[in-house]
Amino acid sequence: MTRTLITGISGQDGSYLAEALLADGHEVHGLVRQASILQRGRLDAIPACAAARADGRLKLHYADLTDSSSLQWLVRQVKPTAIYHLAGQSHVKVSFDLPEYTADTTGLGTLRLLEAVRQNVPEARFFLAATSEIFGEPAESPQSETTPVAPINPYAAAKLYALNLVRVYRRAYGLFACAGILFNHESPRRGENYVTRKIARGAARIAAGLEKELHLGTLTPRRDWGWAPDTVEGMRAILGARRADDYVLATGETHSVGDFCELAFRTVGLDYREHVVLDPEYARPVDITETRGDATKAARELGWTPRTTFAELVGRMVDAEREALDDPRPACD
Ligand code: GDD
Repeated sequence: MTRTLITGISGQDGSYLAEALLADGHEVHGLVRQASILQRGRLDAIPACAAARADGRLKLHYADLTDSSSLQWLVRQVKPTAIYHLAGQSHVKVSFDLPEYTADTTGLGTLRLLEAVRQNVPEARFFLAATSEIFGEPAESPQSETTPVAPINPYAAAKLYALNLVRVYRRAYGLFACAGILFNHESPRRGENYVTRKIARGAARIAAGLEKELHLGTLTPRRDWGWAPDTVEGMRAILGARRADDYVLATGETHSVGDFCELAFRTVGLDYREHVVLDPEYARPVDITETRGDATKAARELGWTPRTTFAELVGRMVDAEREALDDPRPACD
């Protein structure tokens, strides 16, 4: 049994990870930030998490990646044997609007947490959620652990700094510090301002007559979209490996934003071309044309392969939105 600390526990990946760890009998601690509105909807909606909070197997602690003393305190109190570091500002477009905040949380936040681990629990295992965004406009396809890195947005630059720190702390201090170079991974728990959730939600609401149009920035970029719970299994395999290393987690397939729209709207009996409106408000100053990952190393060394197809992913996301239709909130970007 591990005592696991998760940063980003209230996000998509953190909630799936907490659920899976609790199901396997582990003790889970989550870092949560102070905010005027409690952002624990995903956790509270999961019966296993609600039950674990009641019986003390899941504990939430206030701390902040911009506050070293809170991280030091938290790590000293919890004394985790495993840490999954998933938190940080992770929206690519928002990182152009909040570059300094992104660098502070996503980049320096990782440094602060690694220092807290090094000083207090150097024997603990540390996992970083890194990203395919570090490759920028990729120099080769598919992208693997050896593909050259060349970030093209502030978020990717911050994540590359974080990944480099993981490598430094592994080499310099012998920490069991590892990373997943994660390609896009989606689910009904995705934030509403990421494109897959936005499309699934828009399709369901338009089909129900609640809205008429869906505004998107562009239809052409292609992404390697996986199923988040598959990716979370991969994270656990990386952290549980014999030696600390970095691994690409991806499906090896790529589809365009337009492909996602086509399938999502077809699922609800509509033609997306009659409802999707291109809107410059959602376009980015620069965008990656295509990502496609090569997870051969994870398959060979960890036995990890994704199990969910693109069609299953789209179908599950649209179905979830249809079930949630009595939610009165308007679709957001
Ligand atoms: N969010 C958003 N909103 N994206 C749009 C829209 C829109 O209205 N219209 C088109 N897109 C395009 C984006 O320009 C991008 O090319 C693609 O849809 C995917 O956008 P996101 O869903 O926002 O994801 P991302 O690829 O930028 O980044 C996600 O995946 C990375 C790799 O795992 C995020 O989860 C990152 O944090 C993560 O590192």
